[in-house]
Amino acid sequence: MTAPKIQACIIGWPVAHSRSPIIHGYWLKKYGIDGSYTKRAVEPGEVAAFLRNLAKERLAGCNVTIPHKQAAYAAAAERTDAARAVAVANTLWLEGGRLHADNTDGIGFVRHLRASMPRFDARAQAVTVLGAGGAARCVIHAMLECGTPELCVFNRTRDRADVVARHFGPRVKAYDWRDRADRSREVGLLINATPLGMHGAAELDMPLAQLPDNCVVADLVYVPLETPLLAAARARGLRALDGLGMLLHQAVRGFELWFGQRPQVTPELRALVEADLTKT
Ligand SMILES: NC(=O)c1ccc[n+]([C@@H]2O[C@H](COP(=O)([O-])OP(=O)(O)OC[C@H]3O[C@@H](n4cnc5c(N)ncnc54)[C@H](OP(=O)(O)O)[C@@H]3O)[C@@H](O)[C@H]2O)c1
Repeated sequence: MTAPKIQACIIGWPVAHSRSPIIHGYWLKKYGIDGSYTKRAVEPGEVAAFLRNLAKERLAGCNVTIPHKQAAYAAAAERTDAARAVAVANTLWLEGGRLHADNTDGIGFVRHLRASMPRFDARAQAVTVLGAGGAARCVIHAMLECGTPELCVFNRTRDRADVVARHFGPRVKAYDWRDRADRSREVGLLINATPLGMHGAAELDMPLAQLPDNCVVADLVYVPLETPLLAAARARGLRALDGLGMLLHQAVRGFELWFGQRPQVTPELRALVEADLTKT
């Protein structure tokens, strides 16, 4: 049997939990592309060597998950603005023999927001972000690119919120974690960028009563799909945005780069991944 013409993969340690092969496998079949997308468990310490050998391994590129996102960024010869803004990479490809890096999490969040709530005007809304880790940085960068006028970051470790605010400039302000409810009375978008609410993690304690009626509540957590935060938002009559859409939309760029076809995020794809999440 001959190998598929174009090959890509996701690297991580562990990597077994990744849903990316379901997403890319769906698109490969849908567009009739002679390609493959596999999971590759790469040990910490082996990342740079693995990435140096991409061409030898006949790989067009790869996705990168925890804990390799920083190492992947460091290994790249060329980086997009989105990757540079957060200094971590989740999408790599070879171009002219050089390794290129992008971070598509932020744009994935924004595309999901636009697709789900087309009338949401990011230029007119203040944003609250809970958390100051890698995912928070990606989303902050993307929302600033969309023209968000003010973004308040609340983090358990205040210093990390300060670092993020300094990094992104005057539109981003850092606050203590305990002030998250009091200082979120006039926001148009609240984003949970912590793992709180995920299966097996503690619940997020975030009162919603003070939020304006038109506020959108987003959770980056997608296991479970309906987190306690999103359930509480819906119960209060607020619009809720789940984390799965971000996962689906962040995959678009990599597929396009490796396989040469811009794929669509369809309800059928979403249902396929949702069905897999319910097995968790
Ligand atoms: N939907 C998607 O496509 C997508 C993509 C990327 C990430 N995510 C999700 O986003 C979440 C964050 O990921 P990440 O990569 O940013 O992780 P990370 O870099 O480890 O950052 C975690 C953040 O959560 C905060 N945190 C952790 N435990 C907490 C607690 N008990 N109380 C208060 N704050 C707490 C941390 O605060 P400290 O600074 O104080 O430690 C930090 O700000 C994860 O659930 C991940 O699965 C989803």
